[in-house]
Amino acid sequence: MPTIMPIYGTRPEAIKMAPIVAALKESDQFACVVTVTGQHRAMLDQVNDLFGIVPDHDLNILKPGQSLSAIMTRTIDGLDRLFKTDKPDAVIVQGDTTTSTAAAIAAFYHGIPVVHVEAGLRSGNPLSPFPEEANRKLTSQIASLHLAPTSTSKANLLAENIAEEDIVVTGNTVIDALLETAQKEVAFSDPRLENLAASGHRVLLVTTHRRENQGNAMQGVGRALARIADAEPGVTIVLPAHKNPIVREAVLPALEGKPNVLVIEPLPYGEFTRLLSISHLVLTDSGGVQEEAPSLGKPVLVMRDNTERPEAVLAGTVLLIGTDEDRIVKEVDRLLNDREHFDSMAQAVNPYGDGLAADRTTHAIAELLGCGVRISEFEVPQQVPAAVV
Ligand code: UD1
Ligand code: UDP
Repeated sequence: MPTIMPIYGTRPEAIKMAPIVAALKESDQFACVVTVTGQHRAMLDQVNDLFGIVPDHDLNILKPGQSLSAIMTRTIDGLDRLFKTDKPDAVIVQGDTTTSTAAAIAAFYHGIPVVHVEAGLRSGNPLSPFPEEANRKLTSQIASLHLAPTSTSKANLLAENIAEEDIVVTGNTVIDALLETAQKEVAFSDPRLENLAASGHRVLLVTTHRRENQGNAMQGVGRALARIADAEPGVTIVLPAHKNPIVREAVLPALEGKPNVLVIEPLPYGEFTRLLSISHLVLTDSGGVQEEAPSLGKPVLVMRDNTERPEAVLAGTVLLIGTDEDRIVKEVDRLLNDREHFDSMAQAVNPYGDGLAADRTTHAIAELLGCGVRISEFEVPQQVPAAVV
């Protein structure tokens, strides 16, 4: 029986890999050996705990203030040693983190086929998102199987001369995770969130962490939130703060003492999806949140100048607004106070998946290893404008 090794290290990879780990463990075709790097120690463990995943190997690489080179070298070094004793038939890496690209390189050096989940996303700018755009392009150069979430991402791969037979459009596994999690009744562990849910107050959900936004831009985000809090006392701003101290030091000082701002620790995924579902609108620079919020019909303002996820922008649920303080205040104000504009964005669209991405992934891997056939590809549901596909 072939051994498949999912390798991941951060919160978003863990959320998006969890449905694949579950599908592999259910399958009688494969043995599944889970390896984590621990790039995000706390936020990774939080996801594994929720999905009941106990890693077989843990490289435990996190060092506070870690550099990109340290993540890369510690991952490659750890996997280099692991692959000498434990050689899987294929590894799976997800997305564009440095864990993901380092794991792809380490496997490639050992002649192990690399399966790349969420392949083909492109912003077109190597400096934004940094270093993710370069990471994902590097992985595309050495992967044997490219699992594109959408036909747009497949087109990006074809444009870079990746062979069509090596690409399968699966949908994004984040939608598998979201659909499974949203079915469950989840209580908030923080009573302030339960009170908020019961109050019927409008919630502005905010997340931020992008490396290229750190510094001045993120301080501006903090100031913009403070101005919104003052101008809209009936709105509660909820900010589950990323564990990165650089992020906290930039955003949080401007928010101190604001009665309608709730800064909380990263939420377990189930609680976060519930918070998303009771939110009025979302302000974020996150990749995963950009994919999840549209399927719940939540307008999303993305604090970036570009996106590798154009589908929900074209569908009208996501608006790119950059990080200018005045623009953030203006766009939030418009969504809070212009009903017609809000309604035009609050359309549930699901261009990223149908909940079957993990199933398509295991079938595509079976085909790669010569023990199965692929199943039909993910097709974008009809509500997305034809221009997207
Ligand atoms: C990483 C990924 C980014 C992804 C993001 C998701 C890279 C280069 N970046 O960025 O693509 O969008 O994760 O959140 O791979 N920390 C902790 N505990 C944790 C997590 C982080 O203490 O559980 C702190 C550490 O001080 C660490 C810092 O946060 O040095 C930054 O973490 P790191 O993984 O280097 O980068 P992210 O900005 O989180
Ligand atoms: N998320 C979570 N708890 C939180 C904030 C986010 O579980 O407090 C989830 C969110 O639902 C999404 C993922 O984390 O699936 C996004 O992670 P992040 O924004 O850190 O990374 P990105 O997607 O930008 O790489």
